[in-house]
Amino acid sequence: MDELTERRSALVDRLTSRGTLTDPAWRAAMLKVPRHAFLPETVWGEDTAAADGRLTTVVRSHPDWIRWAYDDVSVITQVDDGTPAFPDGRGDRATSSVSQPSLVAEMLQALDVEDGTSVLEIGTATGYNCALLCERSGSENVTSVELDPVLAKQAAANLRLIGYKPHLVVGDGALGVPERAPFDRILATVAARDIPKAWIAQTRPGGVVVTPWATGFATTALLRLVVGEDGTAYGRVLGDAPFMWLRGQRVVPGELRDHVDETAEGVEEFRAGLDSMPVCDADPAGGLALTVGALVPGLSLTRFHATDGSGEASVYFYDRRGSWVLIEYTPGADAYEAYRFGPRDLCAEIEHAVRAWWGAGRPRRDRMGLTVTTEGQRVWIDDPDHELLPPRSGQGWS
Ligand SMILES: C[S@@+](CC[C@H](N)C(=O)[O-])C[C@H]1O[C@@H](n2cnc3c(N)ncnc32)[C@H](O)[C@@H]1O
Repeated sequence: MDELTERRSALVDRLTSRGTLTDPAWRAAMLKVPRHAFLPETVWGEDTAAADGRLTTVVRSHPDWIRWAYDDVSVITQVDDGTPAFPDGRGDRATSSVSQPSLVAEMLQALDVEDGTSVLEIGTATGYNCALLCERSGSENVTSVELDPVLAKQAAANLRLIGYKPHLVVGDGALGVPERAPFDRILATVAARDIPKAWIAQTRPGGVVVTPWATGFATTALLRLVVGEDGTAYGRVLGDAPFMWLRGQRVVPGELRDHVDETAEGVEEFRAGLDSMPVCDADPAGGLALTVGALVPGLSLTRFHATDGSGEASVYFYDRRGSWVLIEYTPGADAYEAYRFGPRDLCAEIEHAVRAWWGAGRPRRDRMGLTVTTEGQRVWIDDPDHELLPPRSGQGWS
């Protein structure tokens, strides 16, 4: 066995012994498809030396390059939409990657594919995941769409070199690929806040859509939706799925100070009843974070702890569209000094979401699910009839 095959086989063994990779057919596919062949000459990793949050280049001759190819890690393959923010090639933001193998395995297994199942993948990136789909389902049954033409071209070359011939499309995956629909399965390898209606419309009744669902607040959940005869899709949260966004649904960029100006005219002082700590400290798998994210669209959070040991904290909630609230948390208080600005009453919206979650019995995230219809999406607990309250009318960002 050559060194690369050995590394690949060791990775597959690790995923199997951890209980992540359970399906023998996917195991065979992951053993066969060479992940390193999909990595570009230059990839990016955290700049640990500078420790400034930037992403630095790692070239093929660096030992990390091949190590990452067969470690259970995602590998960043593009930064800043292809134009690195710094002249030395360092970047600010990962915009494409080869996904983490354990997550790839989890998503492919959730997709429930057999020989001949027709699949649409959203987000071709390097083509690695697409190659796995071709291996399992047959190239002629696989369609994959990538928005970035440079990445799409490279993916086509990578796939061709190894001998896979899926149908590749350059375009906005949020629109699906209508000319190849209907599909038995749709797999998104990018996160959606609003699950695109086209995905549901282009999936056959009884078909499955697996997608990361990111509200933008604290947690990204993996969803498995089954499409019904009436074109409505229902499904549960399976676990974590940290993914980059569909380009059209990206979070408005910027730091706290780009969105919060406490000196602005019209800032209102008030007393807040909301204890912000349970929301700040919410465990991603615990259900509260997903509820708040789903019911308070666009929410971001920044907290500063006092350094005097008092336990006090300044908590900013903001929506990046002109509304914010600052709550000055003091341990043991039952009301807090607070300031708010903008058209949305974020404090009330968060309280409303927290109450909805308490009222539902404080469910963990794995009891939560989503219904997607042509009118929109609704969050529920345990079954689609037990909906969490939607945001109050007039609130939300779209
Ligand atoms: C995490 S990567 C996909 C991982 C990949 N499937 C793999 O094999 O590991 C996400 C990709 O989605 C692409 N993308 C983002 N928005 C998109 C959109 N609206 N339509 C199609 N692709 C999109 C990005 O350019 C990026 O290449």
